[in-house]
Amino acid sequence: MTAGTSPATRIAVFDTTLRDGEQSPGCSMNRVEKIRLAHQLQRMNVDVIEAGFPVASPGEWESVHAIASEIRNCSIAGLCRTREADITAAAKALAPAARPRIHVFIATSDIHLEHKLRMSRPEVLRQAVEAVRLAKSLAPEVEFSAEDASRSDYGFLREVVAAVHGAGADVVNIPDTVGYAVPEEYGAIFAALVKDVPGVVLSAHCHNDLGLAVANSLAAVRNGARQVEATINGVGERAGNTALEEFVMALKVRSGNYGFSTRVKTEEITHASHMLASITGIWPQPNKAIVGRNAFAHEAGIHQHGVIKNPLTYEIMTPESVGAGESLLVLGKHSGKHAIESRLEALGIELEPEEIEQVTARFKELADRKKFIYDEDLLALVANAPERRARLIRYQVVSGNALLPTASVELEIDGETRSASAVGNGPLDAALRATDTALGLELELVDYHTRAVTVGKDAQAEVVVRVRYGEMEVTGHAASTDSIEAALKAYLSAVGSARARSEGVAA
Ligand code: KIV
Ligand code: ZN
Repeated sequence: MTAGTSPATRIAVFDTTLRDGEQSPGCSMNRVEKIRLAHQLQRMNVDVIEAGFPVASPGEWESVHAIASEIRNCSIAGLCRTREADITAAAKALAPAARPRIHVFIATSDIHLEHKLRMSRPEVLRQAVEAVRLAKSLAPEVEFSAEDASRSDYGFLREVVAAVHGAGADVVNIPDTVGYAVPEEYGAIFAALVKDVPGVVLSAHCHNDLGLAVANSLAAVRNGARQVEATINGVGERAGNTALEEFVMALKVRSGNYGFSTRVKTEEITHASHMLASITGIWPQPNKAIVGRNAFAHEAGIHQHGVIKNPLTYEIMTPESVGAGESLLVLGKHSGKHAIESRLEALGIELEPEEIEQVTARFKELADRKKFIYDEDLLALVANAPERRARLIRYQVVSGNALLPTASVELEIDGETRSASAVGNGPLDAALRATDTALGLELELVDYHTRAVTVGKDAQAEVVVRVRYGEMEVTGHAASTDSIEAALKAYLSAVGSARARSEGVAA
């Protein structure tokens, strides 16, 4: 069910994590990761998944095409400028989808017209209409976005919205592209358009530069929007987009106030949040609403006392309602392949038989190092498949606060063993320098994130690195109970992705 066909009280949720979200620094994902996330979005039951911007690159086209081929229960959208080449590329990439949606945009504000597009208003209007007509001839669902709508002249915006609606756009999106609007003002644009363009289905798309994206999206809904665009964990350009989990839970928890609902399975929210964070290495701040580590933690004694007596004292929603219940102690050293497979299935992850074998082998290695293995450990094993073409055989570090840190590494690169040693200003610096020497490459470490996967001193460290390799920036990740080993494996996984990309192999 999409915005145009929903019952009057249903708000369609358009997830743009894979497009607008992916545009934020450090959030890029490879094809396999995008597909994994798309499956989780489908499990969560969003209405539309914006899979990417197909004309942007062959890799992007492939990812959109793969998602369109695999996902059956959501509309799959691909973004396009008003250019014919963009629209035809999107139509082809989306062709296998059960419900393809071509999403065309052009800016409507004078600032954008004068300084970016260098086009007149009539020219923008003409291109918008022609693009929607072309898109409508190639796909059953068409969405049009008036970029920077909230800063556009209302008269011109109304003219464009009416024209694209007339040309066949099923949904017209009114973005607050630069996060400038405030709720009363943004809501008023929707109220006016609903009155001035009868029958149009409007969508809200908000950026969070003033921290108002969710408030603006709710104001839009109150004033007639029937679709809201959002991202998991609120990732996105600059300060991000409307956080999907916050918007959805606001409508659910305050249903008496708004009287609208979504079809999102809220119990899948935490899993989606963790999946995105472990892919990108960007974890929400601990006090982030709904998905932050502390979102359901009651620290003050008086709060704890109240919650034990009756959760309603301090809890407006249960952790279980967003899938943030107790972490399960899963399996032990003696658990076999079938137990692992069925636990993964319960977590919504289906793997190919070959992948199950690999995860089981890694599980056994982990069980030798760590006594208790939790769901999070299992998820980290799945998310952090080791790089096969550049493999760490062993490393050694001698370090201390009164010593010059020294490291030696032994790697296997495409079947050939290479070793090197180096000193550094710390054990990790030394180990990464030794790795560079063994690889014979000059790499720049642009970003480095680490976190403990579970509680406990023996917890696995998950490391996500961003590495610059020539013109390319790539992400790598790995997990291990040994944090230096995790860092080296993450580094090698980034090198593997860079090599695959430069050889034109889709990662
Ligand atoms: O913020 C924006 O205006 C966009 C459009 C392309 C929909 O992301
Ligand atoms: Zn946007």
